[in-house]
Amino acid sequence: MTRRLVIAVDGPAAAGKGTLARRLAQALDLPYLDTGLLYRATGRRMIDAGLDPQHAPAETFAASVGLEDLSRTDLRVPEVDRAASLVAAQPAVRRVLVDVQRRFAGEHGAVLDGRDIGTVIFPDATVKLFITASARTRAERRWEQLASDPHAPDRAEQIARVEQEIVARDAADSSRSTAPLCMADDAVRIETDTLDADEVLAEALRIVARMTR
Ligand code: CDP
Ligand code: CDP
Repeated sequence: MTRRLVIAVDGPAAAGKGTLARRLAQALDLPYLDTGLLYRATGRRMIDAGLDPQHAPAETFAASVGLEDLSRTDLRVPEVDRAASLVAAQPAVRRVLVDVQRRFAGEHGAVLDGRDIGTVIFPDATVKLFITASARTRAERRWEQLASDPHAPDRAEQIARVEQEIVARDAADSSRSTAPLCMADDAVRIETDTLDADEVLAEALRIVARMTR
């Protein structure tokens, strides 16, 4: 019988976790789950219901999020970035979302990316990767991803604003008491400032090959 392969990809905002995790899943023929979307869909539902994602209890909304919600096209906007991080700090929300993430890996395994995959959701994951880069690099990546005008005269200011938002969200994610963003002791860190997405994939595949030999 082949061993179940669970690959945890964690790290701060816009580090390239999703890009890597999706490509790893394809290369290894495993299902892929972007767990941030669970928190984003919960935050989105709170906003749509006119509720404050920081103070109003969000667990019933989290409980009603299904995999079909994750393809909503309105989950990657700045107000949902913030709402996701706020609902993610509610312990009851995290409790509700544990099972759906663990079940996703099923018998055959999966690649999952998020903040607490290697620490809380799959502490026994086969391979744990921690993907990171400086806040400036990550802000530039997120800014480009948002299809901003590359010739905008206020490009530098726009990137600085994205950087501020990313730094604030990382600080909130790292300092919350339940499942904070942190690197698992047995994770392998990949610093991606000077690597493109192909180089990060190649490095991750080398690590997977080494750890599954
Ligand atoms: O999932 P996460 O927020 O960590 O980041 P992402 O959405 O996967 O990646 C952010 C952007 O960085 C995407 O446009 C990627 O193409 C780009 N990128 C990358 O993922 N890896 C690199 N080494 C360089 C750029
Ligand atoms: O793509 P990006 O890294 O900007 O964000 P994301 O991965 O979609 O996650 C959005 C927010 O959800 C994060 O800022 C975290 O607060 C929360 N999250 C979490 O707490 N635990 C996870 N496993 C995934 C996301």
